Amino acid sequence: MSDGTDVASGTDVASGNGAGAGVPLTKFDDPHLRPYAKNPRRAEMLIGLLLLIGLAGFAAYGGLYWVGGQTQWEGVYGGVGFFAFGFGLSAWGKYLLPQGPFVEERHVLASSEPEVGAMAAAIEDRGKMVFRRRGFLGTILGAGAGVMGVVITFPLIRSLGPQPKKSLETTNWRPDAYLVDLDGKRVHRADLEVGGALTVFPEGFAGSSVDQTMLVRAESTDIVTLPGRETWGPRGYLAYSKMCTHAGCPVGLYQELTQQLLCPCHQSLFDVKTGANPVFGPAPRPLPQLPLKIDSRGFLLAQAGYDQPVGPGFWERS
Ligand code: FES
Repeated sequence: MSDGTDVASGTDVASGNGAGAGVPLTKFDDPHLRPYAKNPRRAEMLIGLLLLIGLAGFAAYGGLYWVGGQTQWEGVYGGVGFFAFGFGLSAWGKYLLPQGPFVEERHVLASSEPEVGAMAAAIEDRGKMVFRRRGFLGTILGAGAGVMGVVITFPLIRSLGPQPKKSLETTNWRPDAYLVDLDGKRVHRADLEVGGALTVFPEGFAGSSVDQTMLVRAESTDIVTLPGRETWGPRGYLAYSKMCTHAGCPVGLYQELTQQLLCPCHQSLFDVKTGANPVFGPAPRPLPQLPLKIDSRGFLLAQAGYDQPVGPGFWERS
C-alpha cells in the first residue's frame, strides 16, 4: 500500500527507529487519509462558525427563558442551536476526518512495541497535519455542550411554578358566608333537586380556585357524615372542597346513584355520605367538609370555614 515514508521527514514511520521493518504502513499523504474537504482550512472556519451559531442559539434560548420566556422565540433559538450544532458536528465528521477506506495488510497478529509506538505517533502526527484547529473546534464544541447542559436544566428550575406555601391553609370561607354560584347568585335550598350538584363559592369570591366547593344534595333530610358533624348537612345539602386531596384537580363529577364524587384526573372516588372519605384511587385523605346552615329565607350559608387545609395532602406538610 505504501513505502512507509513520512510526509514531513520522508522516513519509514514504522521503522523510524529501525524496528518493524517489512510491515507495510500507510503513508500520511495517501489520498484516502486526506479529509474530504478540498480546502480543509475553509471547512474548519465554516464548521467553527456553525458551532458558534449553535452556541449562541443555546445561550439565547437560556437567556430568554430565564427572563420570562416567549414560546415562539424559545423554539426559534433552541432550533437554531440544535440545527447549527448538529450540522457542524456532521460536517466535522464528513469534511475534516480522513475518509478511508482503511485497510491494513497483516502478516502477524501481534504488533511489536516499536510498531505500536510508531502507530501512536503516526496518529498524532496525522491529526496535526490535516486538522490544524482541533483545539479551537474542540473548545467551541465543549463550550456549546456546556451551555446546552446548563440551559437544559432551566425548565426544571423555572417551570415548576411557585410553591403554594401557606396559601391553601386558609380560604375565604368565613362564618355566615353565603354560598353563591359562579355568577355570584346566592344559592337557595330550593335550587337543587335531590341528586343535584353545583360548584359554589363564598359570596364576594366567585371563581376563586382555593374556595371552590362542591355542593351536592344527597337527600331531603339532615345528614350526619361523621361524629361531630351532626349539623353540617341540613336538608341533605353537603359541601366539600373541590380541590382533590391527591394532586389538586377539581373533583367536579357527582355520581348520584352511588353518591360519590369522582376526580377525573386519577379516578379517586369520595363517598359524600361518610365525610367524602376516599373509597378508591390515590387520594390519601377525605375532602375537607364545609359546615352548612340555612337561614330563615332559605339561603345556604357556611357555619364556619374549613377546619383543615384544602388541596393535596403533602402541601399541608410543606
Ligand atoms: S388529582 Fe384527584 S385523583 Fe389525582
